[in-house]
Amino acid sequence: MAYVVLTGASAGIGEVFAHQLASQHQDLILVARREERLQALAGELAERYGVTAQVVKADLADADGASELARTIKAAGWAVCGLVNNAGFGDRGEFDQLPLERQLAMIQVNVSSLVALTWHLLPLLKAQAGSFVINVASTAAFQAGPKMAIYYASKAFVLSFSEALHEELKDAGVAVSALCPGATESEFASEANLTGTKLFSGSVMPAEQVVRKSLARRRSAIVIPGLMNLLMVWSGKLSPRWITRRIAGWLQA
Ligand SMILES: NC(=O)c1ccc[n+]([C@@H]2O[C@H](COP(=O)([O-])OP(=O)(O)OC[C@H]3O[C@@H](n4cnc5c(N)ncnc54)[C@H](OP(=O)(O)O)[C@@H]3O)[C@@H](O)[C@H]2O)c1
Repeated sequence: MAYVVLTGASAGIGEVFAHQLASQHQDLILVARREERLQALAGELAERYGVTAQVVKADLADADGASELARTIKAAGWAVCGLVNNAGFGDRGEFDQLPLERQLAMIQVNVSSLVALTWHLLPLLKAQAGSFVINVASTAAFQAGPKMAIYYASKAFVLSFSEALHEELKDAGVAVSALCPGATESEFASEANLTGTKLFSGSVMPAEQVVRKSLARRRSAIVIPGLMNLLMVWSGKLSPRWITRRIAGWLQA
């Protein structure tokens, strides 16, 4: 049986991915920094769904974190039929007021480690029929985001990268999808200092709904869960960029 590698499995959207994939009898490789949470989750998944869940602790903010993770997977001889690049974080504040180190770590986790892990695991994915990659982007990918400049830019990268890979890997049988959620229930808002903003005081989607949509449509290039999010993205496409970036800034002021 081949595994799905799932980064950021210790909380929020990743933890829900773990449950929904396991409920489909899918074995998993769970990745994050908080190992004790991953061990508890692996035990729960084994008990509830009878699947095997391996735990690999990794810090994807380390420049070599993704490569080391890939080396561990290959050394163990685990076959891989899916990759969910879900680990990520944001931070609210003006660019020059936020610590540079944290913003560079954000680029490492949200962008560089996602790219490196995908690159290292593609040979394993190509070896499995019907394999898939889900890259968790965001509705933030569709416009610039004042007061979260690096986060929005990182998600724009993930969307563009995923769309290109979707086309490149079609004939190789690897489906690549960019999941673009709007505000979703998880630890993200508190980690990103967004609690109480307009963005998170309106309608916040349950992670279960987001993940259900993503898995059902994992062979689509772009998945935007929720009608409101879809309308926002499409209306944004019809508006001048100066309007959409100002609305984004206003939502997280
Ligand atoms: N929630 C939203 O509103 C929302 C909307 C759009 C997109 N997203 C995206 O959805 C994805 C999942 O976020 P979430 O909402 O579920 O947030 P969350 O509850 O804060 O979970 C984030 C996950 O990423 C992992 N992670 C963070 N830094 C890491 C690092 N250095 N190394 C390894 N793992 C790391 C965390 O694990 P450890 O802390 O244990 O390492 C955790 O499992 C992110 O890419 C986020 O940008 C979220």
